[in-house]
Amino acid sequence: MSLSLNRLITRKLLTIFTTSKRNFKVAVLGASGGIGQPLALLLKQNPLVSQLALYDVSKITPGVAVDLSHMNTCTLTEGFTGEDQLCTCLYGSSVVIIPAGLPRKPGMSRDDLFKSNAGIIANLTCAIARFCPCAMICIITNPVNACVPIASEIMCKCGVYDPNRIFGVTTLDLVRASTFVAEVNLTNPTCQYVPVIGGHAGATIIPLLSRSCPPILMSGTTRDTLTKRIQEGGTEVVAAKAGGGSATLSMAFAAARFANAILRGLNGEENVVEPAYVKSNVTASAYFSTPLLLGRCGIKENLGIGKVDQYEQDLICKAVPMLQKSIKAGVDFVKNLPSK
Ligand code: NAD
Ligand code: LMR
Repeated sequence: MSLSLNRLITRKLLTIFTTSKRNFKVAVLGASGGIGQPLALLLKQNPLVSQLALYDVSKITPGVAVDLSHMNTCTLTEGFTGEDQLCTCLYGSSVVIIPAGLPRKPGMSRDDLFKSNAGIIANLTCAIARFCPCAMICIITNPVNACVPIASEIMCKCGVYDPNRIFGVTTLDLVRASTFVAEVNLTNPTCQYVPVIGGHAGATIIPLLSRSCPPILMSGTTRDTLTKRIQEGGTEVVAAKAGGGSATLSMAFAAARFANAILRGLNGEENVVEPAYVKSNVTASAYFSTPLLLGRCGIKENLGIGKVDQYEQDLICKAVPMLQKSIKAGVDFVKNLPSK
């Protein structure tokens, strides 16, 4: 073999070695819905996703998977429908993302979805506990504030609970906060950072505008208006869709960003930080969203709330009892499930 060919092969091998990534199987439950389909489209383009398993009760799911499978990316995509296929869908998954369940209509609160969605989350989590108990579980389904405790209690009941692997996806609140603040600040929204903590419903959504970067030049009224708009961003979309559902495309964008953070952590990347609603002891609420350092086993470290001013402290005080009420509803729901 000539020296130059040898060098070429060595360089090629070196490139493969230094850029090689572990690839992961990601399952989406509720994959044929308003969020599920665009989320699958985005995940199909993520180089960290080697296998994309799409599950939904809707019979179009295998078709959605065939459609996506024609995209020339390296992610193998398969569709599953019917409870008997849930096992194959979940088996070997490192990450499970759940947007299964009903969305709001105008006039409804997220809590009004509890009746229809609590049972869906409980059933799907039972299946995760059986078929991929070590997966990172990312819950989009509303009411997130109650669904995360439901999933946690189910995993606990099944003897496979790891609080570092269960997340309520609150990323859309951060995405909205960046967008709305950038509109006021006349900044590039992709470079405008605004921390948002708490939960994912109305007054439990707490934007930390005092820590926005670049900072906002705020009057009292700007602050109230911005805070309210971020807290009611979901309702703004529900009203605009006029009975046609809630945020789907911006949510898929946000969920893809969250999934990517989880995958980068799993892949061993350092300094991956993303907030989510998780089991927590940073406030009197047993679950709370704060920035998290992510790693191979999920949450490496909860980075906590950090410095807040009096305005934000008051928002936290108002949110905690509301969160406690939703959490209790979730915990009681699982307690009252008939034992199988
Ligand atoms: P959608 O009705 O368009 O889609 C939901 C999908 O779930 C449907 O395809 C349906 O067939 C499927 N489904 C229902 N029961 C199922 C089950 N048992 N197993 C598998 N699939 C099942 O609704 P959407 O607009 O995609 O919203 C989904 C959920 O996400 C809603 O609860 C909504 O409130 C919530 N949401 C959360 C956020 C957030 O920030 N966390 C943002 C937007 C929407
Ligand atoms: C959102 O914030 O857009 C979602 O929680 C959906 C909703 O019902 O508002």
